[in-house]
Amino acid sequence: MSTGAIIRLGSLKHVGSFQAHLQALDLPIPCDPQIVTGAQSPLRWPLEQGPFKIGNRIAVQPMEGWDATPEGAPSENTVRRWQRFGRSGGKLIWGGEAVAVCHEGRANPNQLLAAPRMQEGLAHLRDVLRREHLQTTGTDDGLVIGLQLTHSGRYCRPNEHSRPEPRILYHHPFLDRRLTLPHDYPVLTDGEIESIIEDFHRAALIAWQVGFDFVDIKHCHGYLGHEFLSAHTREGPYGGTFEGRTRFLREVVQGIRSLCPGLHIGVRLSAVDTVPFHCDPSRSVNGKPSIGVPETRCDSLPYRWGFGVNPLDPTEIDLSEPVRLLLLFEELGIQLVNITAGSPYYNPHIQRPALYPPSDGYLPPEDPLAGVARQLQVTQHLKQRFPNLLMVGSGYTYLQDFLPHVAQAAVREGWVDFVGLGRMVLSYPQFLWEASEGTQIQRKLICRTFSDCTTAPRNGLPSGCYPLDEYYKSSDLAEKLKEAKKR
Ligand SMILES: Cc1cc2nc3c(=O)[nH]c(=O)nc-3n(C[C@H](O)[C@H](O)[C@H](O)COP(=O)(O)O)c2cc1C
Ligand code: SF4
Repeated sequence: MSTGAIIRLGSLKHVGSFQAHLQALDLPIPCDPQIVTGAQSPLRWPLEQGPFKIGNRIAVQPMEGWDATPEGAPSENTVRRWQRFGRSGGKLIWGGEAVAVCHEGRANPNQLLAAPRMQEGLAHLRDVLRREHLQTTGTDDGLVIGLQLTHSGRYCRPNEHSRPEPRILYHHPFLDRRLTLPHDYPVLTDGEIESIIEDFHRAALIAWQVGFDFVDIKHCHGYLGHEFLSAHTREGPYGGTFEGRTRFLREVVQGIRSLCPGLHIGVRLSAVDTVPFHCDPSRSVNGKPSIGVPETRCDSLPYRWGFGVNPLDPTEIDLSEPVRLLLLFEELGIQLVNITAGSPYYNPHIQRPALYPPSDGYLPPEDPLAGVARQLQVTQHLKQRFPNLLMVGSGYTYLQDFLPHVAQAAVREGWVDFVGLGRMVLSYPQFLWEASEGTQIQRKLICRTFSDCTTAPRNGLPSGCYPLDEYYKSSDLAEKLKEAKKR
């Protein structure tokens, strides 16, 4: 399939055409024929459960900007992004953005750092967000703000954008090759893992002191927490069995509970995955990206390097271990769960469905709507199985003009508790708020998944919506991005 065969959603003028399109593709995505406004809108329903009182069903996903200072403090661009998170009107701010628990664990030299000297900067981010939220909604009742804590593991680049410094838990037959890691590249020792666990405890304490309501112990997108879950081949206490692969999570949680008794804990989880994909060079024309293809099926099955995949056919989903993990969350008293999929590094089409690939990506191997449907259905399945967990869904931005219709249907029909917005918040933060208010929608701000917000950081530039947000569009960064794309 080429992108030519995929219908651009922007060309569908009515929700009826969109519904017919879904039917033609045989995709079971719930979609209402009309947008409901005011208190009747499912997106405006408050949710009270256990200790949580969350004022509506709009969640803002964590979105980092590669724009902190080298020391790890927020820059002007970071502050602006958090203001826009607040402007969204969403009452659940899931983590703000990935904040590294130690310098070595940063994904790039401009990632925020949860260190004691950064406390003031983090407090400022929380504060500007809250104030902007007040401007949009008139009240900060029911506003719940978390901080996403991360160690980037295999994707660490703490010192230079162009210099990977991977911290790996095991050798991966495909991902090692991508990073040109030799066979004897060292894996993190158990002692180093213990020290990273302590970093998580210290970082959570900072978040608690600053006033965040919860911390997210990130377990998604190929970063360290996620890599633990697939560490089948790792020997010792932190790998192998399910107990071993979840020991990291259990020890992080245990320490946070004793150090910060009032702080809630959430987990953002890549609940499903597939094998790494790559651009097929033999099908590339004029050096342009071609359609993504999966790494040749592993010659040695079962596949022992995935989580949420069928070991006998790793291109298929298998929810048995994710279900077991959610049972563990219940045991650990973790009520907040954010479901996502795969990784932006090795299979971006399942993680952030898009029509246009980022500079290191490939053309979509499936209609991006199939990627949206996959994330919706996985979340629905898990929500049905775990009604007491508060669940945020991901991957909605590709729905574009029809996002409000799908979002309100998904909440009303109980597919998900909160609709999480990623890229749409970069281009049009208040989209769902305005739609559920009955305000005229600003179509020119709707994210069309051009992927520049991913291409920019891949080229060492800060992220942002270069095509649609005037702030970036008219900055000298836009010129630099244009140059980088030509290279
Ligand atoms: C520029 C950019 C930065 C992101 N940063 C983070 C991050 O810090 N933490 C995280 O868990 N996900 C991150 N994501 C993934 C998003 O939270 C979200 O899962 C993804 O974009 C799919 O949702 P969407 O379709 O609404 O965009 C990022 C995505 C983009 C495009
Ligand atoms: S750059 Fe803007 S339009 Fe493109 S995917 Fe990112 S948010 Fe959407």
